[in-house]
Amino acid sequence: MTHNHLIDRLSQTHHLSLDEFTDLLVHRDESLQTYAAGLAAETVERHYGKKVFIRGLIEFTNICKNDCYYCGIRASNSNAQRYRLSEEQILACAQNGYELGFRTFVLQGGEDPYYTDDKICQLVQQLKRNHPDCAVTLSIGEKTKESYRRYRKAGADRYLLRHETATPAHYHHLHPQTMSAENRYDCLRSLKELGFQTGAGFMVGSPGQTPEDLARDLLFLRELQPEMVGIGPFIPAAGTPFAQEKAGTLDETLFLLSIIRLMMPEVLLPATTALGTIDPRGREKGLLAGANVVMPNLSPKSVRNKYQLYDNKICTGEEAAECIVCLTKRIESVGRELAVDRGDNVRYTKQKEDQYCV
Ligand code: 5AD
Ligand code: FES
Repeated sequence: MTHNHLIDRLSQTHHLSLDEFTDLLVHRDESLQTYAAGLAAETVERHYGKKVFIRGLIEFTNICKNDCYYCGIRASNSNAQRYRLSEEQILACAQNGYELGFRTFVLQGGEDPYYTDDKICQLVQQLKRNHPDCAVTLSIGEKTKESYRRYRKAGADRYLLRHETATPAHYHHLHPQTMSAENRYDCLRSLKELGFQTGAGFMVGSPGQTPEDLARDLLFLRELQPEMVGIGPFIPAAGTPFAQEKAGTLDETLFLLSIIRLMMPEVLLPATTALGTIDPRGREKGLLAGANVVMPNLSPKSVRNKYQLYDNKICTGEEAAECIVCLTKRIESVGRELAVDRGDNVRYTKQKEDQYCV
């Protein structure tokens, strides 16, 4: 495989096969990666200019009934100190965030049975009443299609549910037998059908993952066409079966960000907290490789360090206001600007307009 051959493939991500994607990942080197990042940066600028969208992440419960092998808040991790935010606390986080310029709130939590559909719907409605110009994103795991329908009716705009891996056998390596890969993929298809701006995604370098698995993740994304894709390196978490495993790498994650940007030019692609955790300038490097979203934490300081999906998670100390100052500087350091904007997917918006304005 010549270098030129690989370079050509970067402009053909719309129709590469499983083997071709696998080759690309296996033959990654510094020059290929730099080239991919350059193309990805041009692509994102063409669709979104220099804007970087911010999402206010409210981690409202770390209680989870699931037991994913990689996750620090899994049910059987007895070291995790559990918490739930009250409705008042959640609304106060959002109010604070609004004043700081956030126009999207992401309610993220473990699969916590305390938060029934009624409670979630009430929360969404209240958030939308308080902030009609904001988008509300839910990230609360696998639910029935009926539940998803109720959330949508209550006003939720977006939903994040990483598929984690598009290879069922690998999925079973990462999750207990009680969880099913098919159900997860079905959830994502339901979310799309219900008209959510939908986010899928996966960890890079998770235990047992092969380059072919990653290539399958890319094909999965290309088929599903989610509006958002969240990827970050796997980072071992204390108190989990994978505590002693190796972390995913910065470079592989950056390369995948670039490929995803090239394959899905309009996608909303965060430079994730996990990326910032494995490298002090990880998020900035993510932005330079094609990302256009950052998701700082709006949760109260007192619970920040308790939402530990993995070890050494960053930004567990500062107030949201301090975070935003620091983040603005980081975004500007790579020639970009922070947008006070809902930051909808431009393709989704266009499809909606076409639907209603014919
Ligand atoms: N390392 C990196 N990412 C993780 N996540 C969960 N645990 C870890 C970990 N140890 C990711 C999963 C999940 C998202 C909320 O966080 O992909 O979907
Ligand atoms: Fe909470 Fe997997 S352990 S979703």
